[in-house]
Amino acid sequence: MSSSILIARNLSKVVPSAEGELTILHDLCLELSPGDSLAIVGSSGSGKSTLLGLLAGLDLPSGGGVSLAGHDLAGLDEDQRARVRAEHVGFVFQSFQLLDSLNALENVMLPLELEGRSDARERAGALLERVGLGLRLSHYPRQLSGGEQQRVAIARAFVAEPDVLFADEPTGNLDSHTGERISDLLFELNRERGATLVLVTHDERLAHRCQRLIRLEGGHLVDHVEP
Ligand SMILES: Nc1ncnc2c1ncn2[C@@H]1O[C@H](COP(=O)(O)OP(=O)(O)OP(=O)(O)O)[C@@H](O)[C@H]1O
Ligand SMILES: [Mg+2]
Repeated sequence: MSSSILIARNLSKVVPSAEGELTILHDLCLELSPGDSLAIVGSSGSGKSTLLGLLAGLDLPSGGGVSLAGHDLAGLDEDQRARVRAEHVGFVFQSFQLLDSLNALENVMLPLELEGRSDARERAGALLERVGLGLRLSHYPRQLSGGEQQRVAIARAFVAEPDVLFADEPTGNLDSHTGERISDLLFELNRERGATLVLVTHDERLAHRCQRLIRLEGGHLVDHVEP
């Protein structure tokens, strides 16, 4: 068995478009050990979110494969992939994807309730407190600012203490002070629980806190900085 928590082998993604097939990710390889932190950088449209979705098993590649926490994702059906994600993965979407009909507390409680944990309310409340939203627990997403929604999304991704935390621009909507606090929280999870971080970011300070950095350009990996 491999000691890697995440392996991408020759990943590619091809999508149909009016002009014919478009390759948005080319033959990308990557391997992460537990506790690694990786920043993915690159200009808009370079394939960062696409790559993150493939690594987390939210989307399937056109070529190559992903192994996540010892599971070969290509060999699993959608339900099985969802189970691997529930057990091992936290994901912060670029667009947050909070459930509109649930308030902040309920959104964060959800992953724990799905696990049948009895301490869901306390844990979710404590984490929302830590991201500075202790006074917004009963607010619905539409009653929260963009940065507040982002922090709820981060708390939701954190709450079940995932082995791998994927976050797409986790500080994109935050002022520099709040962004720094959220970065601290990400790296606490990394340090204290050995969680692996995979972060898409335009935030240079956040990128430089990561041990490793890859740069995408037009779906190609052009730069790979090892520690
Ligand atoms: N399902 C799809 N069908 C067609 N094209 C797509 C699809 N998904 C992504 N693309 C294209 O692939 C490219 C990469 O998209 P992606 O969302 O991964 O970029 P990104 O690096 O995350 O950009 P940003 O920094 O703006 O979030 C873009 O040009 C986008 O238009
Ligand atoms: Mg993106």
